[in-house]
Amino acid sequence: MALLQLDIQHLRNIKQANLKFSPTVNLIIGPNASGKTSLLEAISLICQGRSFRTTRIDQLIQHEQSRLLLLAHYYQGNEKQIIGLSRENKTTQVKINTQTISKTTELAGRIAVHVLIPESHELLDSGPKMRRQYLDWGVFHVEHHYLDLWKQYHRVLRQRNSALRRKRSKQEIQAWDQPLVEKAELLHSIRDNYIKRLSPVLADYGNQLIGENPKFDYQPGWNKDVSADYAHQLTESFDQDYDRGFTRFGPHRADIKIKISNKAVQTVFSRGQQKLLICAMTLAQLKLQPTESILLVDDLPAELDPQRRAILMNALKDSGAQVFVTATEPDLIDLSRWTEGKMFHVKHGIFQDVV
Ligand SMILES: Nc1ncnc2c1ncn2[C@@H]1O[C@H](COP(=O)(O)OP(=O)(O)OP(=O)(O)O)[C@@H](O)[C@H]1O
Ligand SMILES: [Mg+2]
Repeated sequence: MALLQLDIQHLRNIKQANLKFSPTVNLIIGPNASGKTSLLEAISLICQGRSFRTTRIDQLIQHEQSRLLLLAHYYQGNEKQIIGLSRENKTTQVKINTQTISKTTELAGRIAVHVLIPESHELLDSGPKMRRQYLDWGVFHVEHHYLDLWKQYHRVLRQRNSALRRKRSKQEIQAWDQPLVEKAELLHSIRDNYIKRLSPVLADYGNQLIGENPKFDYQPGWNKDVSADYAHQLTESFDQDYDRGFTRFGPHRADIKIKISNKAVQTVFSRGQQKLLICAMTLAQLKLQPTESILLVDDLPAELDPQRRAILMNALKDSGAQVFVTATEPDLIDLSRWTEGKMFHVKHGIFQDVV
């Protein structure tokens, strides 16, 4: 899989760009506010139907313009695909080859795009939501039916929560328990299996990048020690759920904490180590993916010394993904080990090929 060509019109400060990429690594060099992250956003939008910076696509339309336009050529195996995306009048239109597709989420299933951006740090810093997203995203690309199951679970959860909020009878509320338990147990077992496969890969990358052995501590969203099965948990916590008006336990509360020698990693690792850990987590997911991926790495050098940067670049290379890396200075990144690598300079939203 490789994105080989991208035409951009009116996206943030990029008025017009026609770019031909390398299938291996693409280095985007430019000063602050030149348009580096905007290019990565364009790639994310055309490949996934969304930006990693905002949920509001309209923010990406260039000021004073009414429409943004993207056209991508990418190869899936030997097969060339053309994706077009436009955003105008609050409407997004996507065409794959000549066929219009109705939902932008259909894009996400085709091309796996991973991002390593400064905000990725929230994976460790913020609450469990980001880590659940990381987990679900990884599983989704390995098991495509997972998304349907996830949606079914949340549908039943909403029904049960609505019954709790409206203070319906115990019988009416508990009518949702059995379908909820069914979906929850299945979600949990798929997540659990995935974590079991991901753990040794994370340990490998942890060793390679940091010389440490990070471990996932997967918490399914209910107390497995006290109540082994979820049905038991729901019965036990019924009174509390009723008082609070929502379902307190379940896969919607799952978390994967990352531990080093049984301690929370945030309390042990330096900032640079934490950044490398997030890279290790991303690379581990990438390795389990059945299809090749695109990896967007924004502002790589921040907080990394030259030696760690080189180790990370080697790991990125060995991942086999098509990589896009941004930096403010060209000598921060050594491309000598890559074949067919390309470099672009960007200034005021205008890109120039260098290699
Ligand atoms: N909708 C928009 N229309 C026009 N310009 C925009 C729009 N949104 C953002 N910009 C501008 O685009 C420019 C490029 O932003 P971008 O985030 O891509 O820079 P960058 O090269 O990644 O910089 P940094 O090194 O600071 O991260 C900024 O000056 C920003 O203010
Ligand atoms: Mg940027």
